[in-house]
Amino acid sequence: MAKTAELSRVCVDGRRLYRSLAELARVGAYRDEATALRGVNRLALTEADGRGRRLVVGWFRRAGLHVAVDRIGNVYARREGAEPALAPVLFGSHIDSVPTAGAFDGCLGVLGALEVVRTLGENRIRTRRPLVIGFFTEEEGCRFGTDMLGSAVATGRIPLAKAYALRDRAGLAVVDELRKIGFLGPRDVRAVRPHAYVECHIEQGPILRRRGAEIGVVSGVQAISWREVLFEGRAAHAGTTPMDLRADAGLAAARLMVEVRRLAESDGRGAGLRGTVGSLRLEPNMVNVVGGRATCTVDLRHPSDARLAGAERRLDSFLRRLGRQDGVGVTWRQTARTPYVPFDERVQAAVARAADRLGLRAEAIVSGAGHDAQEWSRLCKTAMIFVPGEYDGISHNPRELSTPKQCADGANVLLEVVRELAEEP
Ligand code: GLV
Ligand code: MN
Ligand code: MN
Repeated sequence: MAKTAELSRVCVDGRRLYRSLAELARVGAYRDEATALRGVNRLALTEADGRGRRLVVGWFRRAGLHVAVDRIGNVYARREGAEPALAPVLFGSHIDSVPTAGAFDGCLGVLGALEVVRTLGENRIRTRRPLVIGFFTEEEGCRFGTDMLGSAVATGRIPLAKAYALRDRAGLAVVDELRKIGFLGPRDVRAVRPHAYVECHIEQGPILRRRGAEIGVVSGVQAISWREVLFEGRAAHAGTTPMDLRADAGLAAARLMVEVRRLAESDGRGAGLRGTVGSLRLEPNMVNVVGGRATCTVDLRHPSDARLAGAERRLDSFLRRLGRQDGVGVTWRQTARTPYVPFDERVQAAVARAADRLGLRAEAIVSGAGHDAQEWSRLCKTAMIFVPGEYDGISHNPRELSTPKQCADGANVLLEVVRELAEEP
């Protein structure tokens, strides 16, 4: 069995990892007008996502892994262990993206895992437990409205039939889009029962960089609430309809945006409520027509479940008042909701030890973003490794950037932690 002293002797090839990240980023690449940079658009289950998946699956196969696809399109790549009957160590993330992404969100966790396996292979290291790299369908939730969809199905939070029936804005269903890109797999979604799960990810925020930390030991993920709000007013002539005779859905949407900001600001600075109206669709969306219909999303997040629930209640009563005030119909539905998820202290300690052995400064951090790890934590002991990003850790933006050293540090910590977990009886 490998000993701790032995574990620190191998290191990933940071240049190869960075080259893989750059190559995957070419799939779905577009020119971003706002930043004049090349961005990545690989929305889940689009043709670009299909091409990205096939590229990564090819790399898995070339690394000697056995690849299986489940019925929600999650991809699992297995490296056999000395004791194949033991539960595997699962590690990975996602390769779908928001439409304005950089090269690192999710991809570092998947290609970092691939780099770990390549390194083990080159050094002829066999782990006791099998290793499985996973990447999971629609982590972003941008296309079908529910984040961490694939890992939520695999871990039993969302039934497969419910996931299949979700539709994008064009009315296309998950099950049909999976089939179209060739990733409607045959494997049972509940087939993987890991011993432990570890995910390496960019922080996507400014904290580690500001504190001079090289590794984040993620203690948990804050609670997340997503809603879709529909305002139904009356489309009418912009020039002839007196102001007091309007039912302006756009005005109600604007008031909602301001209220979400006010709610977040009244919760205090720092790790308080985060509130975002990131999507607003106005119909008919014309210069001379009063807005007849507005569809908005609301994303609320808080590390405290109780405080998030309080913010949701305040928002509910605001929306009810809004309908009366502006004479518009107001309806809303919850599209995603996850509680605060604490990670396993033993796996966090393994991350901290690994960083220490590698001479990297580590800090505890709560994740502001949602991650597949929070789903897997229901089934097995789980934690995450964060690496810092430049430009205040900006993410969901083509400026997103972690350096080759930052990425290699994360992958080296991942390598150590996975090896340690894989030797456990
Ligand atoms: C995923 O990126 C999220 O919205 O947190
Ligand atoms: Mn991500
Ligand atoms: Mn993301």
